[in-house]
Amino acid sequence: MDQILFNQLIWAWIFIGLLTMILLLFVTAPYGRHSKTSWGPMISNRMGWLLMELPALLLPFIIFLSGEGSSRRVIWILFLPFLIHYINRVLIFPFRLRTRGKKMPVVIVGMAIFFNSINGFFLGYYWGYFADGYTAEWLTSPQFITGLIMFCVGIGFNIRSDNMLIWLRKTSSNGYKIPYGGLFRYISCPNHFSEIIEWTGYAIMVWNMPALAFAVWTFANLVPRALAHHKWYKSHFEDYPEERKAIFPGIL
Ligand SMILES: NC(=O)c1ccc[n+]([C@@H]2O[C@H](COP(=O)([O-])OP(=O)(O)OC[C@H]3O[C@@H](n4cnc5c(N)ncnc54)[C@H](OP(=O)(O)O)[C@@H]3O)[C@@H](O)[C@H]2O)c1
Repeated sequence: MDQILFNQLIWAWIFIGLLTMILLLFVTAPYGRHSKTSWGPMISNRMGWLLMELPALLLPFIIFLSGEGSSRRVIWILFLPFLIHYINRVLIFPFRLRTRGKKMPVVIVGMAIFFNSINGFFLGYYWGYFADGYTAEWLTSPQFITGLIMFCVGIGFNIRSDNMLIWLRKTSSNGYKIPYGGLFRYISCPNHFSEIIEWTGYAIMVWNMPALAFAVWTFANLVPRALAHHKWYKSHFEDYPEERKAIFPGIL
């Protein structure tokens, strides 16, 4: 595939991501607290997470290894943050969830596999076949360092916020509690907020089209989800903190 076609496909993918966001503002994706049996056959929550995230790790990695880029150390360094995130998301996160007995619709798993495969294909193909322009100097550029800091802050808060939510079920079963502390002081979904910061940081540090598409899709998936969570919290807890926003502190 030539790079012009590759970039055109990514622009189309970004456009689809923005349309998906509009759709998700009206139709809440039915997993987790929004899970619904009316969406067809169900699968265990843990298995669902594992299946839907696995292609996001394996596919780009295999494609990357098949290309020239995998012989260059600088490209490994640029690809590494993505791999670190997905090693956590695929091999650690699903096994830490306290969602015993909970299920999600198979169709959601299928959609996520599709989304993760397309994004993973674009990133893996780019790093394997089109990333000739990066040199060691890129790694000391202000842009790389700014993006890297954002990525590190994002992944740090993402893991911390997910941990805080998982710990809420330390003593109880599958119920929900109001989370307090950390970024929960300001927003209902700091895990989603920080994941957006993380992938925006990654797009800045590597500055290429597939990373931009990944950041746009993350935003498109997570802003509607956070708005739905926030509404859910307010309708389920009378004492839910009034001043708390959904996803962007002080804004939304
Ligand atoms: N890049 C992307 O496009 C993308 C898309 C989706 C998710 N993600 C990331 O994947 C991770 C999980 O996403 P998610 O939407 O499933 O997060 P979530 O709805 O906040 O749930 C995270 C975990 O915490 C539990 N939980 C949440 N709130 C709770 C509460 N108030 N009391 C007790 N337990 C609670 C959930 O249980 P239940 O499952 O039982 O609700 C689930 O096990 C996040 O880090 C998110 O950023 C990324």
